[in-house]
Amino acid sequence: MPKTLSALSARMDLLQSLSGLLLVLFIWAHMFFESSILLGEDAMYAVSRMFEGEPLFGKPYPLLVSAAGIAVFLLVAVHAVLALRKFPGSSRQYQLLNRHLGVIRHEDTTLWYVQVITGFCLFFLIPAHLYTVITQPENIGPYASADRVWSERFWIVYALLLLTVHVHAAIGVYRLVMKWYAPTGVQAGRTRARLKRGMWCILAFFILLGTASLLTYMRIGYQHADSAGERYRPASAPVGAR
Ligand code: HEM
Repeated sequence: MPKTLSALSARMDLLQSLSGLLLVLFIWAHMFFESSILLGEDAMYAVSRMFEGEPLFGKPYPLLVSAAGIAVFLLVAVHAVLALRKFPGSSRQYQLLNRHLGVIRHEDTTLWYVQVITGFCLFFLIPAHLYTVITQPENIGPYASADRVWSERFWIVYALLLLTVHVHAAIGVYRLVMKWYAPTGVQAGRTRARLKRGMWCILAFFILLGTASLLTYMRIGYQHADSAGERYRPASAPVGAR
């Protein structure tokens, strides 16, 4: 490869890793905030108003949530465009890859393939979620979110998103460490096994946390279905609060 091309490719690789890392940190933080529903409606209400800047400005500004959604969407777009370079480019390449995977049975190569497949699914699932976040930022709250999950059947998108995004993120972090830290020497095999165990633990943790939260939104949405559209109002909130 000519020198300038390889330098460009290295820079794109670095940018892909950095955008991936930022997205992983985002989704892990997102899971903690969003699972505040496990602590009760009031906790999720407080978190939602916090992201609308209420503690800072004295009243909620849902546009702040739209702005965050647009920023995350741009980051996803950068990451996806850079990742597209690595996708097999034709049915012939897919055939060769499938044959290759069957022959070598190399676990890390299989993990890479799982990342390609989950990455492809995320192309469709992330925009479905971000579209509602960006266009209806005022509809985030204990009842508004639960109504969306249950009455608008969004639990289907979220169940698929939950699984694919966390598989993609956990494998992504493992591959990031292998790529930039690359354990060598006699301990390399043991380090790799430890990293892989860490990856499975992180994955199990977020799937459990997300499933518990999703079931809670479904339960609240189910109980609230007859009054869908009505907003949550904590005892302490002024009239009109969501
Ligand atoms: C600023 C951007 C985002 C905001 C404000 C946001 C907010 C929320 C909220 C409030 C929920 C609860 C359900 C609802 O209200 O509809 C939720 C669920 C969820 N979000 Fe996001 N989200 C954002 C971006 C993302 C991205 C980029 C991903 C994935 C890459 C994602 C993955 C999920 C998943 C998997 C769930 C379901 C979680 C569960 O099972 O408990 N979100 N999000």
